[in-house]
Amino acid sequence: MKREKFSSRLGFILISAGCAIGLGNVWRFPYIVGQYGGAAFVLIYLFFLVILGLPIMTMEFAVGRASQASAAISFDKLEPKGSKWHFYKWGAMAGNYLLMMFYTTIGGWMLIYCYKMLTGKFVGLDTAGVKETFNTMQGDPAQMVIAMVIVVIVCFCICGMGLQKGVEKITKFMMICLLILMAVLAINSVMLPDSGKGLSFYLKPDFAKLVENGLGEAIFAAMGQAFFTLSLGIGAIAVFGSYIKKDRSLTGEAIWVTVLDTSVAFIAGLIIFPACFSFDVPADSGPNLIFVTLPNVFNNMASGRIWGTLFFIFMLFAAMSTIVAVFENIISFAMDLTGCSRKKAVIGNLIAIIILSLPCTLGFNILSSFQPLGAGTNVLSLEDFLVSNNLLPIGSLVYLLFCTSRYGWGWKNFCAEADAGKGIKFPKWARVYVSFVLPLIVLFIFVQGYISMFA
Ligand code: ALA
Repeated sequence: MKREKFSSRLGFILISAGCAIGLGNVWRFPYIVGQYGGAAFVLIYLFFLVILGLPIMTMEFAVGRASQASAAISFDKLEPKGSKWHFYKWGAMAGNYLLMMFYTTIGGWMLIYCYKMLTGKFVGLDTAGVKETFNTMQGDPAQMVIAMVIVVIVCFCICGMGLQKGVEKITKFMMICLLILMAVLAINSVMLPDSGKGLSFYLKPDFAKLVENGLGEAIFAAMGQAFFTLSLGIGAIAVFGSYIKKDRSLTGEAIWVTVLDTSVAFIAGLIIFPACFSFDVPADSGPNLIFVTLPNVFNNMASGRIWGTLFFIFMLFAAMSTIVAVFENIISFAMDLTGCSRKKAVIGNLIAIIILSLPCTLGFNILSSFQPLGAGTNVLSLEDFLVSNNLLPIGSLVYLLFCTSRYGWGWKNFCAEADAGKGIKFPKWARVYVSFVLPLIVLFIFVQGYISMFA
């Protein structure tokens, strides 16, 4: 069967960016920046994005494009005869499923919050009231399951409409809406009274604060965020390489995707921090920042209900662009592995993902006594740990070694693929760095993740 292709370069870049742009940008990034003291942390993060994220993203695109397949069979196609790289297909597949097993629940929260904002459910509530609304939602399995199921069905329907007519067309629309909404929200935030304090917290590096908050921990968080935000290491990005022709070099395309991803994360901060400081609410409240802190901000803002609704539509689109992209990957796995039709892959996976997402949704209520990583943790913590601290770094290491080692696909094959077409070429002087230094950095991140989790 001939492999489907994107209809345009813009489609490819926006869908890859959509896969990267997600809750990591609009939810995780602002709260980590808040926790680690602002701009100094942002600089460290940008550094790792360039030295870590960009080369690995180029490698994933190259493996996808050369093999014209998803991670389910890409290693089988490119590896030297008799080698075992293809075993990693199971890691890649597990990574995509695990990511979706918790992402769909948070996507559901965004949907619930859009509805609540639109229908004025937060109007008149004080800080305690907003917190209570969040806790009540988490304690209500029916509400969360329904929202999760709606998100899953809508996203699979988009994939079911086909690569060009569904995934490409609708993600393009969502991404363009997201960029427009983001610009409008950022302008509104920056114009708020006293926004300067928030801007200076976000944009003026304060290295003393960074050290005070634990430099090692901040560096580790920045590295982890670089992997998470680009969805690296699980073949989620690689699959989009399999849907393009060889007319553009891949380093240039990876730069475009990284720049878009970073711009969205950066502007999410421009939306959130001035608003927090303007209404004197804490910017360092961690994961609760979006769900508890911000509704308070919108409650105090003129026309806050409208701004709040637009904000959560923005969040929902960011989440859905990732969910659609990763579902496309999961569908592609099934089609490559079994030769089944897109329709069968969609129906089978729709049922599977709903069932697999239940433990995370129920982990906040019925299964809340299950605290796998210590007091206060839940199913989401476990799934996030398995993906973010294990599969993303291990998978990135696999792609790195596969593309640079002569026992894998090898440096020459990788460079030939990455450089095919017009545009920026992969720097050849970086060979020693990506072959020897980068794997050590990734290994360090992996080990450090365990130390900070369990020590
Ligand atoms: N890259 C996705 C995100 O940032 C997983 O949310």
